[in-house]
Amino acid sequence: MHIYIHIPFCESKCPYCAFGSHSDKFNITKEYFKALVKEIKSIKFKDKISTIFIGGGTPSSVEAGLYDEIFEYLVPNLDINCEITSEANPNSANLNWLKYMRKLGVNRLSLGAQSFNENKLKFLGRIHDSKRVFKAIKDAKIAGFTNINVDIMYGTKLDTKALLSSEIQALNKLEITHISAYSLMLESKFSSKKSYQKDSPILAKYLINSLENIGFKQYEISNFGQICNHNLSYWRGDDYYGFGAYAVGTTGFKRYKGATNLRSYIDNPFKKSIEILNDENKRDERVFLGLRSCVGVDLLDLSLEMRQRAKILIEEKKLILENERIYNPNFLLADEIFLYLSQP
Ligand SMILES: C[S@@+](CC[C@H](N)C(=O)[O-])C[C@H]1O[C@@H](n2cnc3c(N)ncnc32)[C@H](O)[C@@H]1O
Ligand code: SF4
Repeated sequence: MHIYIHIPFCESKCPYCAFGSHSDKFNITKEYFKALVKEIKSIKFKDKISTIFIGGGTPSSVEAGLYDEIFEYLVPNLDINCEITSEANPNSANLNWLKYMRKLGVNRLSLGAQSFNENKLKFLGRIHDSKRVFKAIKDAKIAGFTNINVDIMYGTKLDTKALLSSEIQALNKLEITHISAYSLMLESKFSSKKSYQKDSPILAKYLINSLENIGFKQYEISNFGQICNHNLSYWRGDDYYGFGAYAVGTTGFKRYKGATNLRSYIDNPFKKSIEILNDENKRDERVFLGLRSCVGVDLLDLSLEMRQRAKILIEEKKLILENERIYNPNFLLADEIFLYLSQP
C-alpha cells in the first residue's frame, strides 16, 4: 500500500510552478493539518504501508510538530522497510526540522535545489542560493539522512553545455543517492512565460549522459540513481491513497482528487472529484509510463495492432524484448514511441 500526502504551502510561489501550493495561507496550516489528520484517520489500513511520500508545495515550510499526529496513526501500519520521503526546500529545511522529521520516521529526503548557478536560481525566481543547498544537504546528513534526492531543472533559456556541466560538478560533490532532473514545463496558464524555455534534445542527452557518468543511472525519464519505490509504484500503475487538498489517489478504475480550495478541503476533507477510468485508459497509462521508465510494458498488455508495431520497433532496435516485456532504451523518445504504437 502506498500513500501520498500533500502539503499545499510554500514560502514563495515560483513563477513556473503549477503544483497546488500557496504562499499566503500560512494562517490556516493548523486547520489544514486537523483536516488532514481527520481524513487519514478515517482509513483502517488492511495492508501494510510500503511507501509514504509527503510532497507539495513545500513540506518543510510548516513546523515539523504538525506531522506528529499523522505519524502516530500511521506508524503501527508501516511495513518494516517502509520508504518515507519528504520533500523540502533548502531555506526551510533547517537542522531542527530535519532532525524532527528523521525522528518521526522520514528516511528519504527530496530537496528542491533546481540549480547551483546563482543567475539561473534568480531567473527561476528561487529564494535560495547555492550555498543554502550545500548547507541543507550537510544538515540532512547530520540529522541522519542517508537516502537523499536533489531536484534540478533544465531546459531553461539560460542552459548551455557549460552551465549544465557546472550543475553536474556541483551535484557530484554532494554525495547523495538520487537526482531528479526535470525539464522546465509550462502549462497553459504560464504560456506567457514560454520564452523561459529552451527545448534542446542535445542538451537533454548531454545532461543524461553526464549524470550517468557520475554514477546516477537513469531509470525513468527524469530520475537517476537509487530507485525511489514510491515513484516506481506510480509507474507500475499500483493503487495509492492521496490525502490532502489537490492530492490524487487511485483505487482500481477510480481516480479521485481532493478539493483545490483549501477552505473547501478544511470544511470537508472527504469531498473528492472522481474520474472513472476504463480498461483502455488504464492500459494506455501503463504503456505510456512503462515506456518512460525501467518498468517496461508487458507484451500481453498491448492490443494486436500495438504488438505488431512493437515488433517493428524491436527489429529496428528502438525497443528491447526481454521475458515477454518490452523496454525502451531511450526514455527521451517515449512520447514518440507511444504515439507510434497507439496510432488508430
Ligand atoms: C512539487 S515540487 C516540490 C519541491 C519543493 N517545493 C521545491 O520546489 O523545491 C517538486 C519539483 O518539481 C519540479 N517542478 C516544479 N515545477 C516545474 C515545472 N514547471 N517544470 C519542471 N519541473 C518543475 C521542481 O524541480 C521541484 O523541485
Ligand atoms: S517552492 Fe516548489 S512547490 Fe512551491 S512554488 Fe516553488 S516549485 Fe512549486
